[in-house]
Amino acid sequence: TLRISWHTRFMRIWRHLLRPRFFRCISKKKISVFESALQLISHLIAVFPCSKYVTEEGQRIVGGVLIGTGLWIAVTFVMRNVLKYLLSWHGWMFNRHGSLSLTTKIWLVLVKVCSGPKPMLYSFQNSIPRLPVPPIKDTVRRYLESARPLMDDEQYKRMEGLAKDFEKNLGPKLQWYLKLKSWWASNYVSDWWEEYIYLRGRGPIMVNSNYYAMDFLYVIPTTRQAARAGNSIHAIMMYRRKLDRAQIKPVSLNRVPLCSAQWERMFNTSRIPGLETETGRASRVFISQSKHIAVYHKGRFFKVWLFYDGRLLLPREIEQQIERILADKSEPHPGEELLAALTAGDRDPWAKARSQFFSRGKNKQSLDSVEKAAFFVTLDDTEQRYDPENSVQSLDSYGKSLLHGKCYDRWFDKSFNLIVFKNGTMGLNAEHSWADAPIVGHLWEHVLSSDPVRLGYTEDGHCKGNPHPNLPGPQRLQWDIPEEGQAVINSSLKVAKALADDVDMHIIPFNDFGKGLIKKCKTSPDGFIQIALQLAHFRDKGKFCLTYEASMTRLFREGRTETVRSCTTQTCDFVRAMMNDKATREEKLKLLKVAAEKHQDLYRLAMTGKGIDRHLFCLYLVSKYLGEDSAFLKEVLSEPWRLSTSQTPLQQVDLFDIKRHPEYVTSGGGFGPVADDGYGVSYIILGEDLINFHISSKHSSPETDSHRFGSNIRQAMLDMLDLFQFDNKASNK
Ligand SMILES: *[C@@H]1O[C@H](CO)[C@@H](O)[C@H](O)[C@H]1NC(C)=O
Ligand SMILES: *[C@@H]1O[C@H](CO)[C@@H](O)[C@H](O)[C@H]1NC(C)=O
Ligand SMILES: *[C@@H]1O[C@H](CO)[C@@H](O)[C@H](O)[C@H]1NC(C)=O
Repeated sequence: TLRISWHTRFMRIWRHLLRPRFFRCISKKKISVFESALQLISHLIAVFPCSKYVTEEGQRIVGGVLIGTGLWIAVTFVMRNVLKYLLSWHGWMFNRHGSLSLTTKIWLVLVKVCSGPKPMLYSFQNSIPRLPVPPIKDTVRRYLESARPLMDDEQYKRMEGLAKDFEKNLGPKLQWYLKLKSWWASNYVSDWWEEYIYLRGRGPIMVNSNYYAMDFLYVIPTTRQAARAGNSIHAIMMYRRKLDRAQIKPVSLNRVPLCSAQWERMFNTSRIPGLETETGRASRVFISQSKHIAVYHKGRFFKVWLFYDGRLLLPREIEQQIERILADKSEPHPGEELLAALTAGDRDPWAKARSQFFSRGKNKQSLDSVEKAAFFVTLDDTEQRYDPENSVQSLDSYGKSLLHGKCYDRWFDKSFNLIVFKNGTMGLNAEHSWADAPIVGHLWEHVLSSDPVRLGYTEDGHCKGNPHPNLPGPQRLQWDIPEEGQAVINSSLKVAKALADDVDMHIIPFNDFGKGLIKKCKTSPDGFIQIALQLAHFRDKGKFCLTYEASMTRLFREGRTETVRSCTTQTCDFVRAMMNDKATREEKLKLLKVAAEKHQDLYRLAMTGKGIDRHLFCLYLVSKYLGEDSAFLKEVLSEPWRLSTSQTPLQQVDLFDIKRHPEYVTSGGGFGPVADDGYGVSYIILGEDLINFHISSKHSSPETDSHRFGSNIRQAMLDMLDLFQFDNKASNK
């Protein structure tokens, strides 16, 4: 096999070299150098004794291959390193909005040249720079700056003392170890982040960690549940095929490539509960080639093969399989109906139950089929849809259903669940440890853009094409769950249900204005919304709070996220001015500008590895490993985030025609409340005139109310726009 693989590799290189494009790139002169080298090699070969067994033609080919390979390796090596060097510069990000400096322009051209014509998903992986560890002094300074508006003078003085002490004494030692780690690890944060933030948690992952993505808001491609499932499952499998072949175009930010590592665990993987920690890595858990999906419907689990006769089933054939499941009237086995509640409750009982009841016989087989499936599908027996007549209640119910459902009808451990409701609406619920929302969003954009347009439906709402005449049906999974097992399931469900019932969800399609008008205000849309959230929060709770805004660090290898602390001295000044009747419009505008400027600055710092929180988090872990106690780190790490926010980016704008069909676009996604008495807000900016907010909090907190916060957000957005004195009705037209 080794020889074969070398052979194919050579053939590939050779084919690459023979592409006309390659030759066109090489000037005439270089070709003649190339040719003379070729001759030289064939002469050399002729000198060797073996030459008499090889024809002249053969010698030329061997020579060509040798030179080609050498040249190819040299060019790739040089390009890769030049690109790596180029990508470690982040000056482009600090250009003022809309204008590019000459340096940036030249730099962009160089990046483009080194990127090659048609990069594959992982083409850039070796060129993407490592995340640098920022100096402790800078991080501490930034931290103190961020803490200032949230503390009174006395508290701040105390904190400053702790911080300075840390910077001088314990800090440098921890920093030294962290630097050491950053030299050998591909990313000094990500493995710890995954383990400590996601995998070590012992509480439920439902609501607390998993998040969801929503369907179109205003269009209904079909009302047939099976047909919608048919098209979307097919679209997801097409995406997987592209992913397996690395044919997905790498995502870039202003033409700068981002790390693609997070795509690796999208399919065939599942989180597995364990007592100490858990693992979600496919390579450690499975070596499977999953050609099937697991489907849940009315308490029963099915295994559906997606390949037949060596090819992927077509949408209508998948619909046919789903129809068979919907028509199946068999009863659930004892314990089967509520089984998935195990993945929704606390982790330790699940880990114990898994080894106790699911490690042998048919239970193991069936569980394997679920965990090793390409992904999980729920055919939900409820109806969900945005109803303009009853927009608040219909969307709240829809959001809650995607976030937690009935607590036993989604497999929360699976990398993602596709949920198709009874009337054809759908959505995703994704596990968080393997990747961040933009990766799932990328898949979802692909699905939503293929579904109604490229795949389409027939007039009566079926998938196009014909059912297969002799396709074997889905396989019902068999379970034999003993009484004690059922008792564990029941108690997990109880825990999960309490959590789910407490979620206060509110979704607002905000269409008074959008990005178009915000840009006219010459502020970044994200900054504008973040400042509006600050204003809304102050009006809602009468105080400021530590605010988390997720930004990404995928400009670095294996980067995930960094926190932007978006409650700043500047935003507080602005909010106070807004609350002050005596402040003039000009004053408020000026403060808004300053606050937006500051926010953008923080955002850029976070994206370029100069944030606060990941660095402190890692220093804290080092201190734990060394058995050192730092009062400063302990305090910083235990401060609660009472406002947790995240923008869902729309990444493949070219897939959608937002101008002409603004309704054919995802409505974003959301996540559960992060703090007991705080808010979670996720928003997506769609086209020029629409922003969707997904707000969550807990009913049990007397301090919060998602609907009240929602109307505060709306009012804050409108009040801020008012400062600019546009006639917004006129510009909406
Ligand atoms: C998942 O399964 C597919 C198809 O069987 C396979 O090609 C792919 O490599 C697998 N992916 C992972 C991450 O294991
Ligand atoms: C589901 O869709 C059907 C058909 O479009 C509609 O009549 C029904 O009201 C929807 N259900 C909900 C809960 O919106
Ligand atoms: C678990 O709950 C189900 C449904 O509420 C009930 O029928 C069953 O008896 C319970 N089983 C045990 C062992 O508690």
